[in-house]
Amino acid sequence: MTDVLAPLSLRDREAENRIAVSPMCQYSCERDGLATEWHRVHLGSRAVGGAGIVMTEATAVEPAGRITPYDLGIWSDEHAAALEPITEFIRDQGGLPGIQLAHAGHKASKERPWEGHVPIQPDGTDPHGASGWEVLSPSPDAYPPFDGDRPAMRKADQDDIEGVIEAYRAAAERSLEAGFEIAEIHAAHGYLLHEFLSPVTNTREDDYGGSFENRTRLVREVVAAVREVWPDDKPVFVRISGTDWLDDRESWDIEQSVRLANDFADLGVDLVDVSSGGLHPKQSISGGPNFQVPLAEQVREEADVAVGAVGGVTEPEQADALVRNGRADLVLVGREFLRDPYFGLRAADDLERDPDAAANAWPAQYRRAAQR
Ligand code: FNR
Repeated sequence: MTDVLAPLSLRDREAENRIAVSPMCQYSCERDGLATEWHRVHLGSRAVGGAGIVMTEATAVEPAGRITPYDLGIWSDEHAAALEPITEFIRDQGGLPGIQLAHAGHKASKERPWEGHVPIQPDGTDPHGASGWEVLSPSPDAYPPFDGDRPAMRKADQDDIEGVIEAYRAAAERSLEAGFEIAEIHAAHGYLLHEFLSPVTNTREDDYGGSFENRTRLVREVVAAVREVWPDDKPVFVRISGTDWLDDRESWDIEQSVRLANDFADLGVDLVDVSSGGLHPKQSISGGPNFQVPLAEQVREEADVAVGAVGGVTEPEQADALVRNGRADLVLVGREFLRDPYFGLRAADDLERDPDAAANAWPAQYRRAAQR
């Protein structure tokens, strides 16, 4: 029976175990989306801490795609060079480095969460003097009433759409140069690609709005562009919101997610990372242990693709049960990895029956601490 410590084969790559650091924004760039010491230590610690896959935070494919002026980016060679020592370190620790490629769409240009998170207008600045910018939206009239001011928005035209696809393609090429092994396309949480997917935020009447086929067109084109430049021996993931959690209107739901997951598989996607929500402030969502797992499980049962589950996983036994019971192929852990960067080592300690194997999961430098 497969357990969470079992390796996960993805094309020609193998994750040492099925525990991944879920992408988590750090809002810690000091200049123009370039990785800093914070990113190196933060991601590096979790690689030391035994995660099989270490995924970066949402990394913007173009400057306008950042949530805040402090988000990571990958729109120039300088960005790739800043990330390269981080991927090298993660690989040295036995982890697979992944990059989450993102465009924040109409949720871009905001203050940091701990500084208010309200939109920064193009002629305005945040508390540190960083300027805002005009954000891109599939349908500005359908912008959900998030807290704070309405941002200055532009409706994406054909040129913008082609620009986004090309930005993803170029970002994937640069991610390769930076040494990443996995490219994850962020199509969840109410950001640009999810905004196109959901009829709540997409009321367009062109080829990119209306039918399922049209609303999913942009993400499918982005996936195809990334898969074209991402080598055949390296995996591509897509993170989706399994549902908008809006029962009172036509919205994005799990049935459409299953259908899209099959389309992704046909396009060469190796794993669908199933999160949820983030599109609308009226979402009816409750947290707690495994709160999104039933969505991942349904995609795994009904679509022909590997699935990652995320949300409310805090204990090694809990992660193990998800894999053992066939509910997920990979378990992504977010906040628990902030509380405990060594969650992966804790899992080896708690779950590994062979004491030598448990000790060997620890870096040599720490191994004397493995025996209690
Ligand atoms: C997140 N999350 C997130 N998700 C994502 O796809 N890209 C991102 O950049 C971020 N950023 C982010 C920052 C912080 C500080 C947190 C806490 C969360 C969501 C995260 O990856 C995860 O899906 C959720 O936190 C749910 O999992 P946990 O935390 O319950 O394990």
